[in-house]
Amino acid sequence: MEGLKGLIYLDNAATSFPKPEEVLDAAFNFASKIGANPGRSGHRLSVEASRILFQCRKEIASILGKTESERVIFTKNATEALNFVINGICAKQGNIVTTSMEHNSVLRPLKARCKIKGIEIRMVKPDSCGDFSLTSFKEAMDKDTIAVFVNHGSNVIGSLSPIYDIAQITESYGIPLVLDLTQTLGCVPVDFYHFSFVIPVFTGHKSLLGFQGTGGFYIPEGIDFDPLIMGGTGSNSESDQQPSFLPDKFESGTPNGVGIASLLAGVNWIKRVGIENIRDHELKLCEAFLEGIKDHPKIKMYGKKDVKDRIAVVSININGMDPALVSMILDREFGILTRSGLHCAPWAHRTIGTYPSGTVRFAFGPFNTEGDVELAVSALKKIAEGRVSHGG
Ligand SMILES: Cc1ncc(COP(=O)(O)O)c(C=O)c1O
Repeated sequence: MEGLKGLIYLDNAATSFPKPEEVLDAAFNFASKIGANPGRSGHRLSVEASRILFQCRKEIASILGKTESERVIFTKNATEALNFVINGICAKQGNIVTTSMEHNSVLRPLKARCKIKGIEIRMVKPDSCGDFSLTSFKEAMDKDTIAVFVNHGSNVIGSLSPIYDIAQITESYGIPLVLDLTQTLGCVPVDFYHFSFVIPVFTGHKSLLGFQGTGGFYIPEGIDFDPLIMGGTGSNSESDQQPSFLPDKFESGTPNGVGIASLLAGVNWIKRVGIENIRDHELKLCEAFLEGIKDHPKIKMYGKKDVKDRIAVVSININGMDPALVSMILDREFGILTRSGLHCAPWAHRTIGTYPSGTVRFAFGPFNTEGDVELAVSALKKIAEGRVSHGG
């Protein structure tokens, strides 16, 4: 892509880049031609800003398989959404079931909140490829389980969790299943139409292709909790009580209008191209990458060896080399942009045996090409075989 000027961006699990032209145009259009505060004033520009928020809510609800768009709550990222949900749900005594594949955006607020409330945390671990046994969830849960938190797609090894099977169990208990869709919404089709207690959490800036500063969650009918943030909503202004209706109950303060306009354009782009097609493209690249590094004596790949039940996120290490050094050489010598370290998921690295130094992560996106994969494979082999001087 032009914006990358010869660089190969393989850090789409951190944030997607580049964005489709439509996303840039929609953000520019909002900033230059709309600009007003949605839901506050009655003039035409404020109404137009509100319409964009409304439309974006509708499109997000639709890709979740839901119809009540007012239940889509916008936040500034998945982390904020998770904090809302965790603080809201973890309000009584009992236990919480979660997994070792969670991001710190789940584990840190969960740990802090559960400590205050005296809630026990039970951690379910998959095998080193990220495969979970459903029995381990069944064994961890009991009548005192308040909620279950599961990461849909690992941001470390790209494994997909069996979310629908887990949801069957949580639905039978009638308790919330909080699904972290940060790495999957937009590149893996999902449908929660038939689930009453699933709370999907998403970010806007990864596979949904919107700008940074966007994200949110869906609060199903029958689940209610207190908002983490309260304040002006542009509604019920005569009252000093937070509105109880949605989405205002959870959305105080001026929203990220430019970001949400970009997110709407991102979701529209994804729908036009087709989530299945995006997934096929990314998995084809992932497969070519796995094939390219397979059997190399010095390159170790963690996680599933095929692309079944996977997203296009791959962690590797080169024997005897610090992942941070490998990532730095990829950047400096080859213009290949990856991320090294623990990827904010220390327990996932403990699970796969790469704690504390972590791995080098390659995350393919919709704009990567087979050529990018070939260059990445060739660069890795050169580094592994010592055919690159790096002064490190
Ligand atoms: C699995 C997972 N959950 C949550 C997050 C947090 O997302 P955000 O940065 O949008 O808050 C990330 C970010 O990388 C992630 O990979």
